[in-house]
Amino acid sequence: MKKIIQVAIDSPAAAGAGTQAKLIAEHYNLLYLDTGKIYRYIGNLKIKYKKKFNYSLVRQKIKNLNVHDLQKKNLLKDNIATQASIIAKDKNIRKIVHKFQIECAYNPPKNFHGSILDGRDITSVIMKNAMFKFFITANVKTRAIRRFKELKSINKNIKFLDVLKSIKKRDKSDYSRAISPLRKTKDSILINTTNLTKRSCFLKIKKIMDKKLHR
Ligand code: C5P
Repeated sequence: MKKIIQVAIDSPAAAGAGTQAKLIAEHYNLLYLDTGKIYRYIGNLKIKYKKKFNYSLVRQKIKNLNVHDLQKKNLLKDNIATQASIIAKDKNIRKIVHKFQIECAYNPPKNFHGSILDGRDITSVIMKNAMFKFFITANVKTRAIRRFKELKSINKNIKFLDVLKSIKKRDKSDYSRAISPLRKTKDSILINTTNLTKRSCFLKIKKIMDKKLHR
C-alpha cells in the first residue's frame, strides 16, 4: 500500500522553511500549504476593508479561498506581515483558518502523495501526529539578510535595519502570544539553516525522511 506522507514544519520568520517546504513538496509530490500566507491574506483584508473588516467577512473570504490566491506577490510586503502577526493573535481568526488548514493537511487532492504545511503552530496544533515534524530556524541576522534580499525585489527603498527590527518584533509577538505560540515541540527535529546552503539543508531533511520511508 502507498504510504501517505505528512510533513509539519514550524519556524520563525524568514528561516528558510518555505524554500525547504517547496523542495520537499516537489521531490515527494506533496500538496504544499504556506499557512503564513493565509494570515497575510487576512492581514491584507484588514488593511483593505478597514472598518468593514469583521469575522463574517473573514469567514466568507476563507470559505472561497483558493491556494492560488495565496501566491500574490503583494502578500510578501512587510506591512502585511506585521498586520498578519497582529490578527494571528485572535482566537476567532485562528479558528476560521484552522478548518482550511486541516482540509489541506488531511484531504489533499488524490494526485498527491500527501501534504506539507509550514507555519507557527503546525507541529503543535494543526498536524500533531504528522509522520515528520521539523523546527527550522536560523540566527536573526541571517534571517533578516535573507528577507531583506527578498523584499528588495519588490521595494528598492527598503532598509536592512527596518527589516531586522520588524523580524525581531514579529519573533517576540509569535513566541510570546497566549494562543498557539511558536515553539519547538519535543518530537520535532531541529534544523538550523544559518550555515547551510538551500541544497545542503534539503539533502539533510531528505536523508531523515528517506530513512523512515524506506524502513
Ligand atoms: O510565515 P509568515 O512570515 O508568512 O507568517 C506571517 C505571520 O502569520 C507570522 O508572523 C505569524 O504571526 C502568523 N502565523 C501564525 N500561524 C501560522 C503561520 C503564520 O500565527 N501557522
